[in-house]
This record gives sequence, structure tokens and C-alpha cells, in this order.
Amino acid sequence: MTPDDILLLIERLVAADRLRRLRLAHLPTPLEPLPALSAEVGGVRLWIKRDDCTGLAFGGNKTRHNEFVFGEAMRRGVRGVVWGASVQSNNCRQTAATCARLGLPLHLVLTTAHGETTDTALYAAAQGNLLLDHLLGATVEFVDVPLGPRFRQLLWDVAREAEFHGGPVFCAADPVVEELAAVSYIVAAAELFKQLWVRCVRPKAIYVSSSGATGAGLAAGLRLMGWTGRLRIIAPIEWPWPMDRHIADLANRAAFRIGEEPGLRAEDVDVDVNYIGPAYGMASEEGLQALELLARKEAILLDPIYSAKAFAALLDDVRKGVYAPQEDVLFIHTGGTPALFAHSPLLTRRLARYGRPWQSVRTDLAQGEGDTAVVG
Ligand SMILES: Cc1ncc(COP(=O)(O)O)c(C=O)c1O
Repeated sequence: MTPDDILLLIERLVAADRLRRLRLAHLPTPLEPLPALSAEVGGVRLWIKRDDCTGLAFGGNKTRHNEFVFGEAMRRGVRGVVWGASVQSNNCRQTAATCARLGLPLHLVLTTAHGETTDTALYAAAQGNLLLDHLLGATVEFVDVPLGPRFRQLLWDVAREAEFHGGPVFCAADPVVEELAAVSYIVAAAELFKQLWVRCVRPKAIYVSSSGATGAGLAAGLRLMGWTGRLRIIAPIEWPWPMDRHIADLANRAAFRIGEEPGLRAEDVDVDVNYIGPAYGMASEEGLQALELLARKEAILLDPIYSAKAFAALLDDVRKGVYAPQEDVLFIHTGGTPALFAHSPLLTRRLARYGRPWQSVRTDLAQGEGDTAVVG
């Protein structure tokens, strides 16, 4: 299939009401070269697909997901939404933005079981995604159950309880969510390939942070378009199930929703859990170095938990000589940047290594002629 075949097929399915799609994202997101970083790493030509620029409360991959996921929610006529993940979840922040846009009440269940969460971070000085959840009008409940099957059950319980109080509720644990999120990345793959064709770029490999829907959708879309390069799916979290099989199944189910059968098998999926670092929700040294490098060379910001770890994997492969100079390698930036602000203590501590006198204040310049403010 060509990219246009896929995009046309989606339009037809939407017109026939076999898929519902809301327009939430700023699309197409830019495809940009990374010239300074390419020179720094010895000439491999690096590209970035800016899905951090999808819009809707700072953007990210979930804005694409929610176009189809919440299309389905609206089709079902839901009266409320129960969502949940970790305290600094980008998914929850973008879902809070989606619900605000759609006028749907949202109850978030956020777990403190991942990353460094203090009482201050939760209440007095909520930062990053959590701050935005509040601003976007979500109600927030904290629990300490780790992400996984027990947490998903908890979401169902909260959703049933909410349903009991009035009308159907849409729940993050509904299997349709992952499937439709993956459909959005079949569309993203088509959008990306149109941009690559225009520039005559044929990437050897594509890197993305995912442990499910984003990687699955890309795998399905790229297979349907006959691409034979490497899709490197860099996992931010290791689930207690075979992730390659799960992603292959999910890719096939998403493709089936648009009437296609890519026939992906577990062995076709390259999902890598070696860049998680100390744990899910905690920054890794390689990730932070990758984040700092991209910021300084290209003025593009990553987040410490997802995109920085995937970018670290890309840099690691490039430095190991996996790609020849002049070969093209592409990174899909899935967003997550609001979480940067929640990691401010860690990030500012590291700035000392660049030798900046950022703590000193010059007092000898104050009170020059005419500098005195008149107050009152
Ligand atoms: C910034 C960012 N990148 C990547 C992902 C991975 O998304 P998924 O595993 O749903 O494909 C997430 C998930 O929350 C995210 O927040």
C-alpha cells in the first residue's frame, strides 16, 4: 500500500462511520533534519519527526491516540471518563486536555508507585503534568498500586462505581483504547512516509519510545507500506508479559480494524528493554546525557522518562557504528516535555557539571542612577 492508500482508506472508514475520528492534533507534525548533531556523531544523517508538536496542552503521542480513542468514546455517548497511570503521566495530562475540550468530566487515578514522588510534589507544589491535570479541570485521586493488571482492575472498579452514579463511563483499561491508539499510529506512519518521499529520504531505521500502542501502530503501518528497515521500539517499562508478542498482536488487531492483515509475528518486533535505566519513572544517566546533548545541539527538548531513553538508544547504536556515515536514521519524538519541570531538582544539580556560576548574584550593579523603582 502507498501512504495515500492508507490515508484514503481511513477517510472512507470514517465516512462510513466504521471509525470515529476527532480533530485534536496539529497535523502533519514537522519532519526536521538534525544537522549539528549529525556532524557531532560522525555523519550519520539524523532526522526527527516532531510528534511533541501535536498540540493540545503541550502535545505528544497521546494527542494522536485520542483522536480515535475519544472518537469511540463520543460514539458511545459516555458521560464521564476514568483514566489513570503514574503521577507524571503524559497520557493523563493529554487525556485531561481532551476531556476539557469535549466537556467530559474526568477522574484520574494516579499511582505514586513509580519514580520519586514526595508529598510536596503531590500537593503544595504540584509540577509538570500533575500541575496541568489540575489546571485542565481533572479530579485527582492518588493510590500506591503499581501499574499492571491490579492497577487496571482498580480503574475498572472506579469506573463501575462512577457508572453507578450516572451514565456510561469510558475507562482507560478498556481494550479498545490500545487498539484505536495503535490505529492512530498507522495513520502517523503514512503521514511520515509522505514526508520522507518528498525529501527522497529512505531511513535505515526508525526509533520510538513505546511499550504498546505507538510501536504497534507504526509496526503495522510500516509493514503495510512494505518498508523493510528496522523499527526499534525502545520500552520505557517492562510489562509482565511477552512484549514482542503483545505488540505484534496489537499491530494485527489495529490493522484488522481498518480491514488489513499485515500478519506480524513476535519475531518481527524489535522491542528493547535495555534502556529503562534504574526503573520505570526514573531518569537514566544515558537518557539525561542524550537529553542535554539534543538540547544544546538542536534546541529540541526531550523528557527524561520516555523520549530521552529512546534517543539514548539511537545514539548508542550510532556510536557503536551500526549505521554508515550518510545513512539516514529517524527518531520519532513522542513528547512528554512537561515532565521536565517535575525533574527540576535533578536537572539543575547536573547543570553544575557545565561550570555555570548560576547560583551567584552580582550585587555591585544595583542602585545605578535612575534605577530606583517608584512604588505606590
Ligand atoms: C512521552 C511518551 N512517549 C512514549 C510513550 C509510550 O506510549 P505507548 O507505550 O502507549 O506507545 C508515552 C506513554 O505514556 C509517553 O508519555
